[in-house]
Amino acid sequence: MNPVELITRKRDGGELALEELRAFVSGYLAEDGSVMEGQMGAFLMAGVLKGFTLAEARALTTVLLESGDRLDLSDLRGPTIDKHSTGGVGDGTTLVVAPLLAAAGAQVVKLSGRGLGHTGGTLDKLEAIPGFSVQLSGEAIMAQAEAIGCVVAAQTGDLVPADKALYALRDVTATVESTALIASSVMSKKLASGAGTIVLDVKAGDGAFMGTVEDASALAELCVAIGNDAGRRTRALVTDMNTPLGSGIGNGLEVIEVVETLRTAPEGRFAEVCLALATTGLAAATGIDPADARDRLVGVWESGAALETLQRMIEAQGGDPAVCDRPREVMPVAPVVLDVPSPTSGLVARLPAKAVGLLSMSLGAGRQHANDDVDPAVGVELLVQEGDAVEAGQPLATIHARTDDAAAAAAARLTELVQLGEDAAVPPTILRTIE
Ligand code: URA
Repeated sequence: MNPVELITRKRDGGELALEELRAFVSGYLAEDGSVMEGQMGAFLMAGVLKGFTLAEARALTTVLLESGDRLDLSDLRGPTIDKHSTGGVGDGTTLVVAPLLAAAGAQVVKLSGRGLGHTGGTLDKLEAIPGFSVQLSGEAIMAQAEAIGCVVAAQTGDLVPADKALYALRDVTATVESTALIASSVMSKKLASGAGTIVLDVKAGDGAFMGTVEDASALAELCVAIGNDAGRRTRALVTDMNTPLGSGIGNGLEVIEVVETLRTAPEGRFAEVCLALATTGLAAATGIDPADARDRLVGVWESGAALETLQRMIEAQGGDPAVCDRPREVMPVAPVVLDVPSPTSGLVARLPAKAVGLLSMSLGAGRQHANDDVDPAVGVELLVQEGDAVEAGQPLATIHARTDDAAAAAAARLTELVQLGEDAAVPPTILRTIE
């Protein structure tokens, strides 16, 4: 393999074969340095600019997948379902979808990540629960999946190390934004996680990786093609991320919203996306009609069985199970809690996801660098959403902050961000379904 020849071919718009991609990536990971960092950076940039074919995207997924360990879920008794979101603001869907599917008879082993930038991470949310541990051994994961039906934990072993190495380089070479590179990165991790059915929530909007529905749909279609081709039932929803999905934006606040959502009937934007993802996954995994899958899921939601499953999962992973009975007492509380009154009356015309995510991050809920700590108690709790009518003086949101100054600054910024008008078109939440 001649790295310069492969880079040149990619630069000139040519296609590389599986064997060539395998040799190139292995050469980069090998200690002998047969592919230098600069060469990998040049290759990635050539791919971002010239694009990759479907065959190359599949081949890259295979090469990444081959680089590490894989979870074997074949001993589990139920249909195994994994769920993945491309990341958003106020997106605690995993913590609803996993127990919901488990209560409906499936088994969910979800290896999650941490938040970076304006988007949240499931592990940070779970660690906001007092005592909760996300570090489980492979044996503990399997035992809990069998006993309770769901596990949400940090990655075990050495799953897809090539993706870790390439992602770190993409991050600093402006080469994250490629549909094929994102799809192969996401799908290699999903395939390594072992589930028979994969349901993807591909976000579209200002708070998402993909700004437009067209780009999000292209990513979703590619991921679904790669997953189905690898023999996994793979489905995707494209969902709106122009405005926060849930009302809690901050780690502990999102856990509170999850519990409060599962305690009530499935209504509202957040519940709608959770139910749609679970319905898509359950129908694909079992072959039952989507309407029947939805009925079964609404049944376990309204009976309290899904909340009870979440409680058992939290207890099994060392967390305080009382969080499911008294979330606002058990979750950590920020020292300063400040309501933000609306300056005027009107309709909420715009409440932008990314800016609200950044605001919550500025209070300490998120991290700028991978090793930063996050504060479990702080964030923004939205009391209105796009389309709502508000009166002057009515609270738009509550700020949860460490200091008075931080709360006051966040309140001022939030007032700027909520745009009031005379018209407010409420866009649909679920934009496309791809299978
Ligand atoms: N998330 C991933 O896992 N990989 C990417 O490349 C982008 C987002």
